[in-house]
Amino acid sequence: MTLEEKIGQLNLLTGGEATTGSTVSNDVETKIKAGKVGGLFSMSSPQKVRKTQELAINNTRLKIPLIFGMDVIHGYRTAFPIPLGLSCSWDLELIEKSARIAATEASADGICWAYSPMVDICRDPRWGRIAEGSGEDVYLGSQIARAMVRGYQGSDLSKNNTLMACVKHYALYGAAEAGRDYNTTDMSRVRMYNEYLPPYKAALDAGAGSIMASFNEIDGIPATANKWLLTDVLRKQWGFKGLVVTDYTGINEMVDHGLGDLKTVSAKALLAGIDMDMVGEGFLTTLGQSVKDKTVAMADIDRACRKVLEAKYDLGLFDDPFRYCDDQRAKTEIFTENNRQQARSAAANSFVLLKNANKTLPLTKKGTIAVIGPLVNNRENMAGTWAVSADFAKCVSLVDGIKHGGGNNVSVVYAKGANVYSDPTQEANVSIFGKPTNRDNRSDAELIEEALKIAQTADVIVVGLGESAEMSGESASRSDIQIPQNQQDLLKALLKTGKPVVLVVFTGRPLVLTWEDANVPAILNTWFGGSEAGNAIADVLFGDVVPSGKLSVTFPRSVGQIPIYYNYKNTGRPWSGKEGFEKFRSNYLDVSNKPLYPFGYGLSYTRFDYSNLQLSARKMKRSDKLMATVTVKNVGDFDGQEVVQLYIRDKVGSNTRPVKELKGFQKIFLKKGESKTISFPISINDLKYYDNNLNYIAENGEFIVFVGTNSQDCLEANFILE
Ligand code: BGC
Repeated sequence: MTLEEKIGQLNLLTGGEATTGSTVSNDVETKIKAGKVGGLFSMSSPQKVRKTQELAINNTRLKIPLIFGMDVIHGYRTAFPIPLGLSCSWDLELIEKSARIAATEASADGICWAYSPMVDICRDPRWGRIAEGSGEDVYLGSQIARAMVRGYQGSDLSKNNTLMACVKHYALYGAAEAGRDYNTTDMSRVRMYNEYLPPYKAALDAGAGSIMASFNEIDGIPATANKWLLTDVLRKQWGFKGLVVTDYTGINEMVDHGLGDLKTVSAKALLAGIDMDMVGEGFLTTLGQSVKDKTVAMADIDRACRKVLEAKYDLGLFDDPFRYCDDQRAKTEIFTENNRQQARSAAANSFVLLKNANKTLPLTKKGTIAVIGPLVNNRENMAGTWAVSADFAKCVSLVDGIKHGGGNNVSVVYAKGANVYSDPTQEANVSIFGKPTNRDNRSDAELIEEALKIAQTADVIVVGLGESAEMSGESASRSDIQIPQNQQDLLKALLKTGKPVVLVVFTGRPLVLTWEDANVPAILNTWFGGSEAGNAIADVLFGDVVPSGKLSVTFPRSVGQIPIYYNYKNTGRPWSGKEGFEKFRSNYLDVSNKPLYPFGYGLSYTRFDYSNLQLSARKMKRSDKLMATVTVKNVGDFDGQEVVQLYIRDKVGSNTRPVKELKGFQKIFLKKGESKTISFPISINDLKYYDNNLNYIAENGEFIVFVGTNSQDCLEANFILE
């Protein structure tokens, strides 16, 4: 290959179907024919992809096929719940299946490379991209990362129904200061190794073929030029052999980071370990000169080019460049009835019942239900932030879902009641993927008045409030994470009717629901449930499905508590846990340390009783396996699923250790009245952590085992590691 041919392979352009930056690729066709493009993303359909692939195959000397990527994040044409929602299912099989379906649909539509899973740990719900990850926990996040990779890649990347996964955003993108997207991160290596890096590694260990560098800096150097991150950790410590790609214009952005001009930052990125340059064309336009200047060596170009070519080999593109361009598959494998059913079940499993006083839920299937709210009659918004390829018109709204689910004895009345935003200027600016929020020209007072009239005719009010899909996701940070004021006004007015009110929350992040929790009898958090959201919500509201979702992220009482997470450190002056402020202790004057809803929390229509937590021994040798067993009984009135959670605390260490850490979970099904004994094996690996010198160790001494229904309500037992 000539130098130009090699550099061409490093250039990744966008086909423009969904753009997430201000730069858009131009003259794409000419560049492909000239051998200046290695791949494209954001282009779909077997016909379009075939035509584009032909440009490369028919016009370039070496006929190297292009690779075609896409942000396949939570489903494809069939949209699944947003990843944060899916993670609340704690159901790895279901999550893997969702990725498998997404891979089948996307690969039938010309695509072979998915920019997923997004495994960024996040403890700050102001950050809009919390919607795209699996929440705050390193253990749950790592399990989900593996499941997603298995789902996308299957057992053989070269099959025409699998996608190469791209783990992102490496690294620490979810730790942006102040929850502001693209902002600086700064953290100790101890925290990185223990709490933030493992999900990336887990995804790579599961075989992910590629990884995307993040926009943020780490230790003062943007990830895109961070040799420690991209070479020392990724290649040397973890042994990763796959492809490393930038995020959108990540190289060019280093000019604004203040690292030099485009030629300088492009060379830095290549030398740090980047193989492929997304959109910015810094590699294309400057690397030739850098080779002449000897600021980069041909060997560096060769390394990057080899990685791009190897990915294409692995995907089978050299055997058949049109492998993913089968028109027949597109007709029969996309948006099938089966896929919709799976999406419906995934959605119902992702919802978290936050409150259910007086058995307000489930609803009976008779009488008149008023379905009220700015998003309840809006199909597009059900798909959620990254559903760029979803069939929006076929999404099921909440009004439609309740009509279908209620059957003949239910009549449904609807009113909008409020706009999504209090502030119309915010609404105008927020859209990136063009999903309408259908702003109404009537005043808030007029909308509420209409809603009250409609509500008066009903037996029960289901009010759907919260965020539109685009209030979370990329570039959608918020400082006030309550339900917008005008929607709260609607809720207060509806509560005054004295009728039973069920609040269905739409959101891409934990919202501050403190007022709602104190005043509304029933709250179901539904995230953005995807194509079948409306049906799935109705399934749960009517009790056809008993809710089982558990929070993968803490819900704060107040924005001032952020960052708030369950696996915090005790400090030297811990708060006692009793209500009220304590002087000279680590707590606030004006708010409790406790979250509104803790990690792992979620109610059911039935109740589970935990008893008899036993450890197989009180002392454990390093080679031993200890068994923790607990009895869980369904003592309520419904059959239901429960996520049994195991946490461990290392009581004494040479480093300070978190108050507890998730180390296992099992999602079980119990018929009413049924009880089961659940066992969790505990081995030395569950007790290890990275110490100050980054040695991965388990230290002798006392450990506490917690088993329970969420991170706060647990039974306890202890043992000694000898
Ligand atoms: C996002 C990535 C995404 C890429 C391509 C970027 O703005 O940060 O997550 O994969 O765009 O669309």
